[in-house]
Amino acid sequence: MTGRPLPSAEQTVKTYFDRDAAPYQAAYERTGEARGEIFRERRRLLLERLKQPPGRVLDIGAGPAVFTEALLALGAECWTMDLSREMIRLGRQSLAGHPAAARAHHGVGEIGRLPFSDSVFDAILCSGVLQYLPDIQPAIREMARTLRPGGQILLTFPNNRAPLNSLHRAAVQSVRIAAALGAGLGLLRRPDEQRLSFRADIPNRFFSAASVTRLAREAGLAPQGPPQFHCHHFPFQIPALSPLTRAWDRIANLSLPNGPLRGWGREGILELTKPG
Ligand SMILES: C[S@@+](CC[C@H](N)C(=O)[O-])C[C@H]1O[C@@H](n2cnc3c(N)ncnc32)[C@H](O)[C@@H]1O
Repeated sequence: MTGRPLPSAEQTVKTYFDRDAAPYQAAYERTGEARGEIFRERRRLLLERLKQPPGRVLDIGAGPAVFTEALLALGAECWTMDLSREMIRLGRQSLAGHPAAARAHHGVGEIGRLPFSDSVFDAILCSGVLQYLPDIQPAIREMARTLRPGGQILLTFPNNRAPLNSLHRAAVQSVRIAAALGAGLGLLRRPDEQRLSFRADIPNRFFSAASVTRLAREAGLAPQGPPQFHCHHFPFQIPALSPLTRAWDRIANLSLPNGPLRGWGREGILELTKPG
């Protein structure tokens, strides 16, 4: 990273993830909670699709280096990069003492201005990041530039065709309006404005597979087949309803991914290559 001041939108995202770094890392470890299950499932699906041997891999928006140990085990040389200094610090710390730590490089950096030469990576992972960018085009261009011809990009995007995402969005809007009215009348407390869902200053975007694919093609990348959709989890944890929502999660995650409703997964995984 160059050290020049970040534009204010990026700074807001960075501050949020600096604060969320430790809970984020802990969520990966915890079993029996939807958040961690979704993260681990996404990681499993991406690693399953990663070509072997992976070679030089950039994990951009890496969080606390959540893929690095698995990548090292596959023989990769890894660059984990994130806007959040705290995410990078925790990731580096978690790898300290790892026998292959010399193959893991950690750095603070922004996806739209990658500090790497052209065509240096065999693979790029971009998991759970695009939704926080005000504009994804520079990010896709930078991934295309730094990937070697014939290399592989695996990226994820929140799916705007997923009914559960629409339900989530509608519920967040309703809570915002109700809370604003209720607070105005002195009846209700405002929702926790530190929670990502209620943050109006941080993008939390959804995309159609077609729009992401179009931008990728414009950047010179070629999709490798249609996106794979996953995550049919119910979007809220409502304690009184939790037996019902847990049952939904189990049934939906088992039955929907390969059935006629497979496009309904809350997140899409797109595989791209750079024609050589
Ligand atoms: C939800 S976390 C995903 C972490 C990890 N990739 C995973 O799959 O669990 C999103 C990460 O993207 C990072 N991020 C957000 N905007 C970024 C940007 N413009 N450049 C680089 N990283 C960014 C955040 O700091 C955060 O660590």
